[in-house]
Amino acid sequence: ARKIIIDTDPGIDDAMAILFAFQAPQLEVLGLTTTFGNVSVELATQNAIKLTEIAKVTVPVAKGVAIPSQIAPRPHPDFVHGKDGFGNIDLPAPQGKAIEKSAAQFIVDTVREFPGEVTLIALGPLGNLAKALELDPEVANLVDEVVLMGGTAIEYGNVSPVAEANIMNDPHAADKVFTAPWQVTMIGLDVTHQVLLDNDILGRIRQANPEEGGFLFDCAQYYIDFYSSRFDMNGCYFHDASTIAYVMDPSIFGVELGAVRVACEGIGIGQTIFAPQGMTFPEPHWNDVPMTQVCMEVNSEKLLSLFETTLS
Ligand code: BDR
Ligand code: CA
Repeated sequence: ARKIIIDTDPGIDDAMAILFAFQAPQLEVLGLTTTFGNVSVELATQNAIKLTEIAKVTVPVAKGVAIPSQIAPRPHPDFVHGKDGFGNIDLPAPQGKAIEKSAAQFIVDTVREFPGEVTLIALGPLGNLAKALELDPEVANLVDEVVLMGGTAIEYGNVSPVAEANIMNDPHAADKVFTAPWQVTMIGLDVTHQVLLDNDILGRIRQANPEEGGFLFDCAQYYIDFYSSRFDMNGCYFHDASTIAYVMDPSIFGVELGAVRVACEGIGIGQTIFAPQGMTFPEPHWNDVPMTQVCMEVNSEKLLSLFETTLS
């Protein structure tokens, strides 16, 4: 099985991604690391532990960064994920505790333990990954792949016309991640806005798998209400769980190679700027930027069916 660490800010779609990964026989989840984003890092950590208890798995949870590296924190989007991060469903607190190590230290130690084998899946702002690179720059060469949900190459943003929320929450950290010498795959709004998850699918998962499916169905209602009230849609976009599908079956996606950098100030702050491979520019910001794989196409039917069958 492919070894993964999931860095996360749960979050309703984070919960979908994590329970999906726990159920996937192709994946071995080595740990969860948490960050602020949809909720505070304290609550994200509680929620991550809760997910391990719902799935009845024992994996370490390591708490990570509480604020962006260089900008003021933005308010938590409780109108999208609820005050509890799970759509205000009033769950009891988890029993377990986070480990003593920080998220960044856990990432470094685990990658060192399994050189070349660990894929980092990032579902929130990228502060923990940036910190891991600072603690030990060598990890860039020792990680198998970084697969992140965030950004957008050509689709509109979701927190500004050009910015996606995870990148906007810590643009400096994101720019570090995109310019470090590791293989990064970006799964952004270009593809996640092409996939609609609805109550038909969630209802079937609940029927087949009452515990996990019931939990996901319940927390998704708040999220679906948000999307249905804002946009002309009957369901929600499929953000974080797309990364899990990608590591299980990359053929579901079509990718383009290019350099990605992040605007760190001004009106375009948080924008992931994409320069397709082969284009050269005299501007020094674009010298020697590593190639990112940017997902631009997705087979929505195949993706949703992988999600449904894995969780059922
Ligand atoms: C991303 O932002 C968060 O609110 C979601 O969990 C997802 O990771 C979508 O822009
Ligand atoms: Ca997330």
